[in-house]
Order: sequence, then structure tokens, then C-alpha cells
Amino acid sequence: MAVKKVVTYGHPVLRKVSSDITDFSNIDSLIQDLFDTMYEFDGIGLASNQIGIDKRIFVVDISHMEESDEESNKPLVFINGRVDNTVGSDVDSEGCLSLPEIRINVERYESIRYKYLDRDLNKHSTNFSGLLARIIQHENDHLDGKLITDYATPADLLKHGKALELMRAENTK
Ligand code: NI
Repeated sequence: MAVKKVVTYGHPVLRKVSSDITDFSNIDSLIQDLFDTMYEFDGIGLASNQIGIDKRIFVVDISHMEESDEESNKPLVFINGRVDNTVGSDVDSEGCLSLPEIRINVERYESIRYKYLDRDLNKHSTNFSGLLARIIQHENDHLDGKLITDYATPADLLKHGKALELMRAENTK
């Protein structure tokens, strides 16, 4: 069990395309680190490259949220996931533990089918909608080296440019 440092905007690992996990021998401790770190910083999702490990895994927990239903009412682990099918679109505001204090409106698919392995390495191909679909797309973006700032409008960049510049400077010195 360990709370890890969450890397912030400007760190090169956030721009790496994460590779599929093929060696599962240390997966349990990685999963535990991801949950410990996510809970420590009050996140609802955390991708592995946000703690510096560019492997295709993220965790999600929205069990404390209003939108949570019985199906999503537990901590979830997604390994080697891919978006498989998409329907509709929906715009909402998102934050990110790697971009503290910043919120950006992001257009996402309204619902998706996501293919992944769970923590017991069982295969799933599951439809998600609403908040879960949004979080999964956000975390899957992390695995592809994408961030919410990639969806920023010129107005967003004007508003958050200074904060982004400071983070980038912090990560390149
Ligand atoms: Ni994020």
C-alpha cells in the first residue's frame, strides 16, 4: 500500500502512449497504489501514467457520487482497455488530478462499449453511459497520451494559460 506522487501537466510521461500489460505478476500492488493515490487526492479516476507508470491500466470509483447506481457502486479496475463502440455526444466540465484547479468543457461520447480485463483478468465488453462513460473516456485518453487541455478552447487557454505555463516550467526544470 502506498500513496504515490501524481505527476502534473508538462511531465513527459503524460504524453506517452501506454503499452498493454503482459506481465501480471505485480498487478495487485500496482492496483493498490492506484486506489491509495486516487483516494488520497479525492479523485474519481486515476490512470497509471499519472503515477509515472506508462501501462494500460486505470481505476475508477464513483460509489460515493449521486449518479452511482448498484452496478457502478464499487471500485472498478480497467486493464488493457479499448473503446469499441460509441453512441451520441455530450459536453460537460472535467477536472484532472494532473491539472489541479483547472476545469475544461469536454465533448465525449454519450455512451461507449469498452473492452477490458478486470482485476481478476476476466474479459469484459461492457456498455457504459453517463458519468462512468465520461470517466472511462477521460482515463482512456490518459493511456493514449491525451489530456483535457487538448480539448481547450482559446478562451480556456486564456483563462488557464498562466497555471499551465507554471506547471510546465515546474516539470522541465
Ligand atoms: Ni485525468
